[in-house]
Amino acid sequence: MRSTNMATRASYRLLRPLLFWLPPETSHRLIFTLLRFSYHVPGAGAFMRALFARRLPSLPVSVMGLHFSNPVGLAAGLDKNAEYLRPLADFGFGFLEVGTVTPRPQPGNPRPRMFRLTRHAAIINRMGFNNVGVYRLITNLVSQGKPCLIGINIGKNRDTPVERAIEDYLSALQAVYGHADYVAVNISSPNTAGLRDLQNDESLDALLRTLKVEQASLAQQHGRYVPIALKIAPDLDDTQIAAIARRVLEHRFDAVIATNTTITRPGLTDEPLAAETGGLSGRPLKPLSTEIIRKLYAQLRGKVPIIGVGGIENADDAWEKLVAGADLIQIYTGLIYEGPGIVSEIVRGLADRLHAAGDNNLTEAVAHARNQRAG
Ligand SMILES: Cc1cc2nc3c(=O)[nH]c(=O)nc-3n(C[C@H](O)[C@H](O)[C@H](O)COP(=O)(O)O)c2cc1C
Repeated sequence: MRSTNMATRASYRLLRPLLFWLPPETSHRLIFTLLRFSYHVPGAGAFMRALFARRLPSLPVSVMGLHFSNPVGLAAGLDKNAEYLRPLADFGFGFLEVGTVTPRPQPGNPRPRMFRLTRHAAIINRMGFNNVGVYRLITNLVSQGKPCLIGINIGKNRDTPVERAIEDYLSALQAVYGHADYVAVNISSPNTAGLRDLQNDESLDALLRTLKVEQASLAQQHGRYVPIALKIAPDLDDTQIAAIARRVLEHRFDAVIATNTTITRPGLTDEPLAAETGGLSGRPLKPLSTEIIRKLYAQLRGKVPIIGVGGIENADDAWEKLVAGADLIQIYTGLIYEGPGIVSEIVRGLADRLHAAGDNNLTEAVAHARNQRAG
């Protein structure tokens, strides 16, 4: 099993210069479109599953009342329109977060809008929520069926004034509710003017209150409670983190996703592309996002789960996020640099830690490690 995994990762490393020779957005679209079409060939899906998903050890976790086959998810932004669910699920992800989707379709910012900082295993993007709109995303989802747990990440349209942002979140929530296993409310993308202002205490209070009221009414209508997570930025000071945690607890939000990309440029003094406007993800984001998770966990005290994301490249990074306070983790940039074998490598690495510690499940193993750190 491990040798196959090493071989797939080595093959990706060989292929990577070719893929990276194309502009990032072109190469991402090309790879995933090819993958999607390859699924029309009989046996393609089974081959992919044999290569990745079938080889995974069992590592179940229960979070937000949902049962995940493993805690490793795809972060929002890679499959914005829910077009590639089958191949992504076959990489072995325990869950996929699609979007960010806005109520109406929009083209996003002019290209180029995504930059690879290869020496730093990082990406800067200013995509600006390019997406096909909520109704087409739902059509895409329905036509493929759900191959694993699916989160739908929602945002506001660029031309909706920030004072009316709540209306966009409400209409997107209403549209996606019946199709999502959880909904993520993105108020932390740096590429939509004014969006991050929704993290300010007064705006956040109003937004969370309104969404919770709507969630209760939708739960009755659909006969099913769909949890809602809040996705936050890494560029927050301690006072802001404490204020967000207070509101999340007060309104009984179901989870926090920490974090989105950063507008800072840690350790990138030697990098000309650092001057590009946009959010930075990948390796340089890792310490920042872990620190936010740690501080958030101290405030939430385990009462609200955290989905940890930012710069995860291997099982050690994933473990660090879990011990800092995360219950689930997500990856994006690591997948671009390491290829699809990263998912099984992380799941396997986490399973190894569990067995080495003699614990029965991941939650128990993480709790022990947190206690050891605290004590
Ligand atoms: C090209 C790109 C596009 C992204 N688009 C979105 C998005 O639409 N919505 C969102 O919530 N996060 C988006 N993100 C942020 C990721 O979901 C994730 O929070 C961030 O990249 C940190 O994780 P990573 O270091 O593993 O990439 C995007 C990231 C990248 C690199």
